[in-house]
Amino acid sequence: MKHIKVNDLLNNTKTLQEVTAKGWVRSFRNNQFIALNDGSTINNIQCVIDFENTPEETLKRITTSAAISVTGTLNESQGKGQSVEIQVTKIEILGDSDAEKYPIQLRNKPSLEFLREQAHLRVRTNTFSAVMRVRSTLSFAVHQYFQENGFFYVNTPIVTGSDAEGAGEMFKVTSLPFDETPRNAEGKVDYKEDFFGKETNLTVSGQLEAETYAMALGQVYTFGPTFRAENSNTSRHLAEFWMIEPEVAFNDLDANMDLAEDFIKHVIKYTLEKCEDDLKFLEGRLLDEEKSKPQAERSEMSLLEKLNFILDNNFKRVSYTEAIDILKNSTPNKKKKFNYIINEWGADLQSEHERFLVEKHFKCPVILFDYPANIKAFYMRLNENTEPGKETVRAMDILFPGIGEIVGGSQREERLDVLLEKMKNLGIEEEELWWYLDTRRFGTAVHSGFGLGFERLVLFVTGMTNIRDVIPFPRTPQNAEF
Ligand code: 4AD
Ligand code: MG
Repeated sequence: MKHIKVNDLLNNTKTLQEVTAKGWVRSFRNNQFIALNDGSTINNIQCVIDFENTPEETLKRITTSAAISVTGTLNESQGKGQSVEIQVTKIEILGDSDAEKYPIQLRNKPSLEFLREQAHLRVRTNTFSAVMRVRSTLSFAVHQYFQENGFFYVNTPIVTGSDAEGAGEMFKVTSLPFDETPRNAEGKVDYKEDFFGKETNLTVSGQLEAETYAMALGQVYTFGPTFRAENSNTSRHLAEFWMIEPEVAFNDLDANMDLAEDFIKHVIKYTLEKCEDDLKFLEGRLLDEEKSKPQAERSEMSLLEKLNFILDNNFKRVSYTEAIDILKNSTPNKKKKFNYIINEWGADLQSEHERFLVEKHFKCPVILFDYPANIKAFYMRLNENTEPGKETVRAMDILFPGIGEIVGGSQREERLDVLLEKMKNLGIEEEELWWYLDTRRFGTAVHSGFGLGFERLVLFVTGMTNIRDVIPFPRTPQNAEF
């Protein structure tokens, strides 16, 4: 008999018919009630065993995380909070799970830190299965948004010779066995002789390649893994993360901001509709987590209120210069001002400044734009008519409450001469980017794009607090085991 997904049993199926369900045991009470979960929903289906007619040997094998198949009659449930249950007539143990050895003992409330070391099993918990279903739905919404709005999906290379961000935070790729890799005089790996004789790295961003495609297909987007060898051990950084990068010909910075805001609202709205049960569960989890914090640090809104707030409010658009003025005159806590670093126009904002603007000052998502040219990447469009020494570029960062930077983007420098000058000043070799420069040589046009860090979006939507908990197998300086 074909088995039916628990989600369908709980929602759509007529009672009093015979059904089969397969899944993993979440709990087994009183030798009678199995809570069965098959991953299709956060909800378990209750399976009622006729224990008098079930062999002792079988009852013993119904342990947490054992895989089982049950067949029986679907009945309206007497229990609270569940619509239907299965009155079991046949049970089969498909895969035993030794309760003593199973690493995740739910009754001990395993911590998120502990579960990180069990990345292959943690998805069997309510929290992680909910997060990963939400993550999947968000991915779908990303493709849906772009596909329905006339964008083409481009797959940009993972192994590449270019450093799109010019930040030098790249993982090098080598085709040679470790002990045959050429070394320099000091014994360090000589990367010049690298990937089949070329110097290559894992991509930090697909932007430069996406730009070349936007100059032909008009509107494109990438959605793929990107890698950063920055050794930042924070709850917002991964060494391997997924980025979504749309790139649009003829869009200026304002149009770029409109696109980003509309896109983010779409994916959140879609996920709110599709993942109601999971988000309600995650909202409860967050409430529990917040109970352990002092009142002042608790969030004023629940998870669902926060998500709906995003849909209902415009993102506040503020220039870098305006932001610096606000920060200079602000007192983040009663005792001290932001009197360091930020007094100087031209300094990059630290995450505490960003969070102050979003969480305390504007109390809504903020799009900061027109940053100082010298703290941003080479490819950004230089603004005209700025004071000497105060040159700005048409950059934008979107800052989210609780997250900080979720999007970084810009209008691109479309003028060949200006771009070449910029590259020269930064020591970026023209020969390395000859193909990129061709877009400016042949039919150049105003264009813009941005990158959204997918895990930061998943963090926001799920209310989780550590980025390691929203990607199946996190890669950070500490976690690379799997
Ligand atoms: O601001 P970034 O570095 O921008 C770019 O890479 C541009 N090429 C994007 C573009 O214009 N097409 O990165 C974009 C976003 C950040 O705003 C952040 O959300 C995320 O990527 N991000 C990270 N997420 C997790 N871990 C890291 N180490 C991240 N670095 C950036
Ligand atoms: Mg950035």
